[in-house]
Amino acid sequence: MLSQTPTAEIHSENYRFLQAHVYAHAGIVLEGDKHYLFESRLSPIVRRLGLGSINELCGLLQAARETEVSREVVEAMTTNETYFFRDPAHYDAIRTVLLPRLKEERRATKKLRIWSAAASTGQEAYSTAMLLLECGLGDWNIQILGTDFSSQVLERARSGKYQQIEVNRGLPTSMLVKHFRRSGVDWQINDTLRRMVNFEAIDLRKSMRALGPFDLVFCRNVMIYFDAETKKGILKQLHGTLFRGGWLLLGGTETAFGVDECFDRITIGNAIVYVAR
Ligand SMILES: C[S@@+](CC[C@H](N)C(=O)[O-])C[C@H]1O[C@@H](n2cnc3c(N)ncnc32)[C@H](O)[C@@H]1O
Repeated sequence: MLSQTPTAEIHSENYRFLQAHVYAHAGIVLEGDKHYLFESRLSPIVRRLGLGSINELCGLLQAARETEVSREVVEAMTTNETYFFRDPAHYDAIRTVLLPRLKEERRATKKLRIWSAAASTGQEAYSTAMLLLECGLGDWNIQILGTDFSSQVLERARSGKYQQIEVNRGLPTSMLVKHFRRSGVDWQINDTLRRMVNFEAIDLRKSMRALGPFDLVFCRNVMIYFDAETKKGILKQLHGTLFRGGWLLLGGTETAFGVDECFDRITIGNAIVYVAR
């Protein structure tokens, strides 16, 4: 019998199984017709495991759900799109309003704690580190935490190594020259910046109060993948990790259900910022 190619049609019961699997393990809602997405993201796993189809992969997952493959499948279904200084208005707001205020308020301790939740491959965390250095905070005790569900992206984030195409996106040439060095055809971020940032695997749906308190939390371009209930729970948790008056930044297109219950929404230039009450 001929084996199916990895792109053979996903049976409807397997399609529903995959949707439920990703939702159960990461809270990600993949509704509507996402056949193409499942096929393009899961076919490499099917090929690597020498399986004939995504349907066979589902059989494997159903037989032993808590395996390495199970996690790999969920990670493959995360969308990791990110780039340096994404949503520049946020960085302008930090530079012009938040940092001058914190410089004053924290001048005795010279300590700042920042969290890039859903950090993906690290560009958000490193952009923030660069901004802080540019703003003259080089002698401060700066702790930037980058977290993500996916251990694969975190490995890349920790390496601090980026391809040419990645440094071409959002990173001013002056900062590239100042904070990176060539590593073969790639670019390696310098040790000063790497020391400012730590990366950890954290599922945003789990308890995170122990991580705080933070002065600033980025939680951008991830809420869009969650349902209203999950978003609400995460927002409450994020609030619990912030100092009073601390800032939460959400993605430009994200409407956060329940955000007004514990945050004040303020506009700074073109940025919307949520201030913890
Ligand atoms: C589109 S990226 C956003 C990256 C960055 N924040 C930005 O705006 O450029 C979304 C990230 O959320 C992560 N993610 C998805 N579900 C998650 C969860 N339940 N807990 C933690 N991270 C999650 C994905 O792995 C992915 O790297």
